Parts: sequence; structure tokens; C-alpha cells
Amino acid sequence: MKSKILSQLSDNYPWQDKLRYFPEIDSTNTRLKAMAAQGAPEGTVLIADCQTGGRGRLGRSFLSPPGQGIYMSMLLRPECAPDQLMHLTCAAAVAMCDAVEQAVGFRPGIKWTNDLVFERHKLAGILTEMSLSAAGRVAYAVVGIGINCCQTAADFPPELQQTAGSLSMFAGQPVDRARVAAAMMDALYRMHKELFCGKQQMLRRYRSDCITLGQAISIVRGSDVSHAIARDIDDDGGLLVELPDGTLETVSSGEVSIRGMYGYV
Ligand code: BTN
Repeated sequence: MKSKILSQLSDNYPWQDKLRYFPEIDSTNTRLKAMAAQGAPEGTVLIADCQTGGRGRLGRSFLSPPGQGIYMSMLLRPECAPDQLMHLTCAAAVAMCDAVEQAVGFRPGIKWTNDLVFERHKLAGILTEMSLSAAGRVAYAVVGIGINCCQTAADFPPELQQTAGSLSMFAGQPVDRARVAAAMMDALYRMHKELFCGKQQMLRRYRSDCITLGQAISIVRGSDVSHAIARDIDDDGGLLVELPDGTLETVSSGEVSIRGMYGYV
């Protein structure tokens, strides 16, 4: 798998020697954070065939069975304050739409903030995690992506069958996981190069990919559920919502999950 991925990377991808492949791992994000704390360099990428402890946002688990998906984490070391990196998850989501489009031929949408979706099914999730230096600067960021590639509907647990999907289900043909992984790495490398100089353009692309905008949504904070219309994405990737009384409020991805009024999206 590793050599197949390397052979499909663009010629200008500079971090080929920093890819590590695991048949099984607890979580690529957890392992990469431990490596980052030990000084691993920017551009280190971990890819696993399966994860036994895949993690999602808000403390959820991420199902990561063997032979079917790509579970990838990339280490970045941007030199900035943490509040300058709030848009990283949005940038990764746009990069992953580019990667899927390039490798498989259709462009997913983004369900704010970090899910790739197609025809009301979740194809992928993104978990970005950051660590700070003693001086309060960003020491490193780990961008983790789990993407369902080869599953049929029957491969998902019954409770996920209405809402989870894979690339091959919508591509209508088998999907080459190595090709998708290489496209993901290329797209993440381009994202890293344009993280600051291309931020406004990236946000325009995020808004155009984001299927949440304009929708009636439920905002879930713990056991509290409120309703709103999703109106815009701010410069930090926050979701600007209009409440029933017409007031506007920004919600941030760390505190809430959202649901479409009629199901997952
Ligand atoms: C989500 O859907 O909430 C985010 C899921 C992120 C899953 C990926 S798989 C690779 C990396 N390792 C993890 O443990 N999580 C991320």
C-alpha cells in the first residue's frame, strides 16, 4: 500500500520520506501527537488500514474497519498564534473535497464544520488537534481524516445505514484507496502552502461547498437543542446563524453539533 501511494503522489510533493503506513493502529491522530511531542518533523503522515480507537469530534468514536477506508493524519508546524489557525479545519475540508474530486470524479459537499457528505450521506470526517508551546504559540497541529472508500451500505452498522456512505457507493465503481490517499496528501500539502496567503479564497470555496448554509438547523449543546437558519461562515470558520427572533449568533465547532431539521444534513 505504501509504495502504491508513493507512486501516485505529484512530482512536487516534498514529504515522501515522512510517510508511515500501519496495518493497524489505535488512532493515527493519537500516535502522531505522541510523535510530534517527541519532535517529529512537519509533513509527517501516518496512514492506517484500520484503527482500533479512531476518534471523532466532541469525544465521539470513528468507525475504522480494515480494508475499506483511509485513516490519515498529517503533522503541521505553522508558526503562529492559535487564534490565527481557527480556519484550519475549513481549509482541510476544502482540500479533501478537491482530493475526492480529483481521485474519484465527483465533488462532495461539506456539512459544517468537518463532514464530507454526498446525497445526504457522510463520507468522511476531519479531526484537527492543536498543541501550544510554553509561550502560547502553536507547537503543532495534527489534521486527521477518516474517509469511507469501499463500503457497501450493508457494511455499515444498521444504525448508520441511512446516514453513512462511501466513495464507491456514489462513484458507481471500485475506488483505488492508494489513489485517494495520494490525492489527499497532495491536497493537504497545497493547503499547508496556502494556509495564510490563500485564506480568503479558501473561505469563499468553503462557503460554496458548504451544504449547511441556507438550511434550517438544530443546534445541539449537550442536552439543549435550539433552532436557527444557517446564514454564513465567519473568518474563523464559525457558523453565523439566525435565531427565530431574527438575532444573529456565531456558533463555534468546538461547542455544538448541528443537525438538519429532517435528519443528518
Ligand atoms: C468526525 O467525524 O467527527 C471526525 C472523524 C475523524 C477521524 C479521523 S481517522 C484518522 C484520524 N485518527 C483519528 O483517531 N481520527 C481521525
